[in-house]
Amino acid sequence: MKRYSRITGTGSFLPPRRVTNADLVAQLAERGVETSDEWIRERTGISARHFADAGVYSSDLGLEAAKRALEAAGRSAQEIDLIIVATSTPDMVFPSTACILQNKLGANGGAAFDVQAVCSGFIYALTIANAMIQTGAANRALVVGAEVFSRILDFNDRTTCVLFGDGAGAVVLEASSKPGILASDLHADGKHVDILCVPGHVSGGGVLGDPVLKMDGQAVFKLAVGVLEESARLVLAKAQRSASDVDWMIPHQANIRIIQSTAKRLKLPMEKVIVTVDQHGNTSAASIPLALDFAVRCGKVQPGQTLLLEGVGGGFTWGAVLLNL
Ligand code: UT7
Repeated sequence: MKRYSRITGTGSFLPPRRVTNADLVAQLAERGVETSDEWIRERTGISARHFADAGVYSSDLGLEAAKRALEAAGRSAQEIDLIIVATSTPDMVFPSTACILQNKLGANGGAAFDVQAVCSGFIYALTIANAMIQTGAANRALVVGAEVFSRILDFNDRTTCVLFGDGAGAVVLEASSKPGILASDLHADGKHVDILCVPGHVSGGGVLGDPVLKMDGQAVFKLAVGVLEESARLVLAKAQRSASDVDWMIPHQANIRIIQSTAKRLKLPMEKVIVTVDQHGNTSAASIPLALDFAVRCGKVQPGQTLLLEGVGGGFTWGAVLLNL
């Protein structure tokens, strides 16, 4: 019998400190950085984001999201034999945030590792977990996207610091005789490293280079809309489905204009698109599982429906997963 993988539970967590555009505008004004609620909302669709307090790490946010996903799946941490954490803001250089999370969960013994594909990280991680389950390398996985992007923002750079937030989302993915994940599609093009990066690194006891996010927003925007459409078409073709079979698109939440333009190119009405960027900002690898869990818990997304998940981010990386919930 063919072996598939299915999502059996979702969970998410936002750090309690909610920062509205008005809060951020006031904080930035104290540094002499000029921006406005109107600019942020009109250009990005963002109204608020959450920031983690000092001393709270990606593994802490991931832990809460993971506990909720396990509870929704009716599983204990001890039943998990694979943990993949997608993050670009790991707790440490090493060990992986997945190992730290595994220990916090008390799920010790199974495989655990991080995936670094920036905002496409959750799509990469879900694809790897699916492949490992299909080949029998794992039976029950916890796939987490967790980020504290507030730690790598330059709050003197108004073109980037208004865009991002912190949070975590998680799914439990289990072996199944019925298809959950129908197809996935992954890509990267390393020639675009410079348009979205944090160029600093740890060396000789210090940080060398710039440890804050640098982005050419317009270049990212242009690339994003093209590759998101292409990847959606490729994943649908692989699964022998068409856009009209999609009940919900759950895209990476970077900018409402990127989301709208992808939906339009795919002829998907916005009523079929899950949008959380207004309340979460861009939480990088956490954004898709956060949006998925939000949509499940508010009852929009129902079991049995077909979901198109897709992401794009630094690298440049992009990809999509088509699944039946
Ligand atoms: O997760 C994947 C990573 N990120 C993305 O997907 C982001 C992709 N890019 C974007 O979302 C958009 O390019 C941005 C939201 C970053 C920028 O929007 P834009 O419409 O491309 O604006 P722009 O960069 O063309 O800037 C327009 C103007 C500029 O002023 P001038 O040169 O026209 O006088 C900027 O200096 O807006 C100015 N500006 C701001 N003004 C107020 C840039 N940031 C701000 C700001 N507040 N925060």
